[in-house]
Amino acid sequence: MTDYECKMTRFPEPVLGKKARPIEVIDESIRALAERMKEIMVDNKGVGLAGPQAGVDLRIFVVSTDGTRENAKVYINPKIEPGGGLTENEEGCLSLPGIWGKIKRYKKCTVTATDLDGNEFTEEGEGLLARAFQHEYDHLEGIMIKDRLSAAAKLRARRQLRKLQAESSGPGE
Ligand code: NI
Repeated sequence: MTDYECKMTRFPEPVLGKKARPIEVIDESIRALAERMKEIMVDNKGVGLAGPQAGVDLRIFVVSTDGTRENAKVYINPKIEPGGGLTENEEGCLSLPGIWGKIKRYKKCTVTATDLDGNEFTEEGEGLLARAFQHEYDHLEGIMIKDRLSAAAKLRARRQLRKLQAESSGPGE
């Protein structure tokens, strides 16, 4: 059993740019990790959080479209099947503070994942839920909204990305 040391990660932490690894065994350490991830998500007023955002390169995310801990659901080793055509909407990311932009996502998304008891389940999402599934799944592939912004929005985000980079390499590191 491994105890995962969790902390909220921000760009440019390397773990955010990597493809996360599948979870092989769902044990107490994974259950503890999931609880900690819910806590980080709620504390930061997010509606979702992926493993790499907690500093852990494992394929797990939590989603709660109303941002509450009670409604936070855990998805382990998720596979997604987006559909229903594309739609554009404003998105932000806890790991990219200060960056917002219109991102194209599929209107619908089906997730098949494993829960904390090791049971596989399938869930269909629409609207914000479908968007959250696609956003969090991207994190497991090392993709962030900065990679999906339009060329113009990328240009606008450049200064903020540099600022985040500068903050991470500040004094003492
Ligand atoms: Ni995000």
